[in-house]
Amino acid sequence: MGHLTQAWSPIGGMTRYRGNGPTSFEDQTIGAIEAEHSRTPAQIMLAWHLQEGRSAIPKSVTPSRIAENFDVFDIKLTAEQVVALYKLDMRRRLA
Ligand SMILES: NC(=O)c1ccc[n+]([C@@H]2O[C@H](COP(=O)([O-])OP(=O)(O)OC[C@H]3O[C@@H](n4cnc5c(N)ncnc54)[C@H](OP(=O)(O)O)[C@@H]3O)[C@@H](O)[C@H]2O)c1
Repeated sequence: MGHLTQAWSPIGGMTRYRGNGPTSFEDQTIGAIEAEHSRTPAQIMLAWHLQEGRSAIPKSVTPSRIAENFDVFDIKLTAEQVVALYKLDMRRRLA
């Protein structure tokens, strides 16, 4: 039987909850990819998970963001963009 990896804090909520530094939503690498697709940082992060075969369940209490987070299934990242996302290190991992 196959296994499916699930992303926890899939769009970097943990980087926001800490409230003491840059968040995934402000990351320049994600920002550059987002601009190339005319999408949002959250959408690029979710597209990356889906394209790489991970389960991703983002959390939002904001209706417009919930809609935005569902509007990702048509995004096709290039191989270079996928590699760039894997190279990201927010340097803010849990201790
Ligand atoms: N993090 C963990 O350790 C952990 C552990 C077990 C289970 N989980 C599960 O994983 C899921 C999500 O975890 P999470 O809340 O840590 O992280 P997340 O989904 O990565 O991030 C949630 C944060 O992102 C914001 N957000 C959502 N959509 C956005 C968008 N389109 N643009 C900008 N901001 C957006 C939310 O704000 P608003 O809500 O204010 O819109 C919230 O601050 C949940 O189902 C949770 O139960 C997480």
